[in-house]
Amino acid sequence: MMTITLANRNNARYQAMGRRSLLEELRDQGVDLPYGCRYGGCITCAAKLIAGTIDQSTQVALNQWQINNGYVILCVARAKTDCVLEIGVESHDLLYRNPFRDPLAAHELKADIATPEET
Ligand code: FES
Repeated sequence: MMTITLANRNNARYQAMGRRSLLEELRDQGVDLPYGCRYGGCITCAAKLIAGTIDQSTQVALNQWQINNGYVILCVARAKTDCVLEIGVESHDLLYRNPFRDPLAAHELKADIATPEET
């Protein structure tokens, strides 16, 4: 049994078993979370992981820049350890950026097409 703490919900604590997605596990305990596709493709359910480890290997919505900023896709992410999350749209401050004003570098693209960061 793992503890999921929601930092921007007065550090409210919930339980996770890690066998189902965090979206399902938290919603089952009454947490109101936004979601859309529920298969890791639309980004609606993104949350920010402040501490802990999750497995979100099946997500396809996030690019490397978003992952590096701590974003996780709750509809596919499973808890591996105790975690601290920020949830909801107020956690999305670093999720989007203007692609024309501030384009992604090659190493910040989606993981399967990103190139290593130049040093
Ligand atoms: S609900 Fe679409 S990515 Fe999670």
